[in-house]
Amino acid sequence: VFGHIKLAPPDPILGTAEAFKKDTHADKVNLGVGAYRTDEAKPYIFKAVKEAEKRILADPTLNKEYLPMRGLDSFNSLARELLLGKGCAAIAENRVATIQCISGTGSLRVGAEFLKVNVNPPAVYVSSPTWGNHLTIFKKAGCIVREYPYWKPETRGIDIEGMLNTLSSAPIGAVILLHVCAHNPTGVDPTPQQWDQIQNVITQKRLIPYFDSAYQGFASGDLERDAYVVRKFVNEGSQCLVSQSFAKNMGLYGERIGALHIICRNKVTAEHVLSQAEIVVRQMYSNPPLHGALIASVILADPALTQSWKVELKAISERIIQMRVRLLEELIKLKVPGDWTHITSQIGMFSYTGLTSQQCENMINKWHCYMLKNGRISMSGINTKNVAYVARAIKHSVDH
Ligand code: LMR
Repeated sequence: VFGHIKLAPPDPILGTAEAFKKDTHADKVNLGVGAYRTDEAKPYIFKAVKEAEKRILADPTLNKEYLPMRGLDSFNSLARELLLGKGCAAIAENRVATIQCISGTGSLRVGAEFLKVNVNPPAVYVSSPTWGNHLTIFKKAGCIVREYPYWKPETRGIDIEGMLNTLSSAPIGAVILLHVCAHNPTGVDPTPQQWDQIQNVITQKRLIPYFDSAYQGFASGDLERDAYVVRKFVNEGSQCLVSQSFAKNMGLYGERIGALHIICRNKVTAEHVLSQAEIVVRQMYSNPPLHGALIASVILADPALTQSWKVELKAISERIIQMRVRLLEELIKLKVPGDWTHITSQIGMFSYTGLTSQQCENMINKWHCYMLKNGRISMSGINTKNVAYVARAIKHSVDH
């Protein structure tokens, strides 16, 4: 029955984590998966999360009942407010349908299925390049996936003309997937002026924006600033979807906590939309897990705890920014050929180094620096102890 099944290739991102774990080399470095590590290369649990868990466990009313298909209501409204901001008119007018999801990936999967069943868009456009799972998630839901140009290797910046041209020729009703901040994998975001241009095309051509918000607070250390583009679209009347993850900004990777927000024209539509999204969830996994939703809502419901979480988040994003500076210094010190200033101009979790796939192989095979074959490195794998080693690995790989 199963004998014909072939071995699947390793996942390009999660596979690097497995390979890293198996490697016994003393100097190995994990630059693959986007998960925060301390300067001691250890996973980090936010103090605010530990405090929230303490409170949850001490709550005598706690039980392990099923959540509704839409998830925990307190979490949904707090998550929505964090994303869209206090005083958001769409929230006040009850026209945001929110459904708790299994982190960003689960939210995208529910969003994709919801769109396919209820909207059937002519195509879904994703940036080239993008997080690899974007393509497969939308394909899996039966959508036609196309790409819009995003990255210009010559300038190591955005190909804004290419992007606008492709969006201009997209069919009416096509979905345009946009990264809210800290674009994965390039670390390059549009400027506010470029967002204006993108928004104009989307509005004029009647396209549907779908935002992926995986790094709010991680890019700049400022939750408000990192939500700029979603708030701009929503406050200016856009009907759109947003997939929101708490994996990175609360360090809740394994708790799988996130949400899907669908911003509608009015309250009645939002109610209908939510009911359909609930059907999608019911048929996929019935209802979401409880613990992560409780953690996030305990943090977001208490202003003091929210504040201490924000301070920790800022410290984390600053450590990453510092590591960018340190890596660039080391590369300059070693006189590695080429211009490496993109290491510090890119933002967020990743740097898109520009290393070729052959050079990446050398990083992995000779230096035990696990990274993506497209040249992406997770900056959070770099610390004060290994930054010089990583720079030497890059030099050797470039000279190779
Ligand atoms: C990444 O891009 O490394 C993260 O978003 C983790 C993942 O699920 O791929």
